[in-house]
Amino acid sequence: MLLQGGQAQRVRGGVHDADGFVVPHVLVPFGVGDAALGEAALAHNDGRRRKFDVTRSSPIAHRGFVASCHPRGTEQDMKIVVIGGTGLIGSNVVKRLASQGHEAVAAAPNTGVNTLTGEGLAAALDGAQVVVDVSNSPSFADDAVMSFFKTSTGNVLDAEAAAGVRHHVALSIVGAERLKDSGYMRAKVAQEEMIRDGHTPYTIVKATQFYEFVKAIAETGADGDTVRLTSAKLRPMAADDVAALVSEIALAEPANGLVEVAGPEALPLDELARQILRVDGDPRTVVADPSVAYFGAILDDNSLTPDAGFRTAPTTFARWLAARAAGK
Ligand SMILES: NC(=O)c1ccc[n+]([C@@H]2O[C@H](COP(=O)([O-])OP(=O)(O)OC[C@H]3O[C@@H](n4cnc5c(N)ncnc54)[C@H](OP(=O)(O)O)[C@@H]3O)[C@@H](O)[C@H]2O)c1
Repeated sequence: MLLQGGQAQRVRGGVHDADGFVVPHVLVPFGVGDAALGEAALAHNDGRRRKFDVTRSSPIAHRGFVASCHPRGTEQDMKIVVIGGTGLIGSNVVKRLASQGHEAVAAAPNTGVNTLTGEGLAAALDGAQVVVDVSNSPSFADDAVMSFFKTSTGNVLDAEAAAGVRHHVALSIVGAERLKDSGYMRAKVAQEEMIRDGHTPYTIVKATQFYEFVKAIAETGADGDTVRLTSAKLRPMAADDVAALVSEIALAEPANGLVEVAGPEALPLDELARQILRVDGDPRTVVADPSVAYFGAILDDNSLTPDAGFRTAPTTFARWLAARAAGK
């Protein structure tokens, strides 16, 4: 069934998919009050995608952005370039895609591809159907991170146009658009906007904070024997679950929209850090302090958590922490 834009439908409820994600699945027609959301979906898609195929898809609706993500079918031998393919998420994605029979190319400075200078980019993308961008800026300073994501994204999109790439998948952050005081988040929003305004069909996966990243967040609040962090709640998730979803999306049709994913529980940041420091044998004391900023922005419980229609990742913090404690 193809839904015209004006008939766009919303998703409620959920089922588990093969990777254990809870996927919204119940299709409910937009009611009168939802008409604006339908319009927003069309505006968001900039008129490029007027129809949403909901019968072959795992449909997702979020703030009016309706995304259809369905497998490409039997295509088993795609060339997929993973920008940042040597990083935490990227190396995992490369492994997953390669194990499914695809030619997964890790593109990063130490494999000869630099998206800032353009070095090696055209050659890497030659013959590629899909590009997954999970790169990150080496510096989180406001100007440096903005310059990284703008320059890199521009170069990648230009190279994709030249190579005829059919799908650009990028990893961004749930709530980035709400944290205007954070230079890092402003840069991620700029990246999202360039992708949306570009010519390559795309899917933007917005994930919450990785459990693996909490230790680095804690360091930003460290002072001697004390770590001061906000107690605002996040909905963090395992990097492995992020990689699983990004890999799945890379093999799906472009949504020309957003897919949001979050962990199974909302947990206070200070408590997450306290438990990680404990299993790491780190003696520092974590103190809850709501006045401490998160990369430049003051958080509340809603800042970095998704609203409705997001996919729920399976790994709980307790399970991830137990694996970390066991050295896995
Ligand atoms: N951390 C979180 O909680 C979180 C949450 C949601 C979304 N995200 C997003 O997830 C993405 C990936 O994060 P991650 O933790 O996996 O990053 P990461 O481990 O720091 O890896 C970054 C990757 O980017 C590559 N890179 C750096 N400069 C490059 C350049 N000029 N050209 C090409 N590649 C370059 C790095 O290559 P080298 O190793 O060779 O330098 C590395 O492969 C980021 O975009 C981030 O915004 C993060």
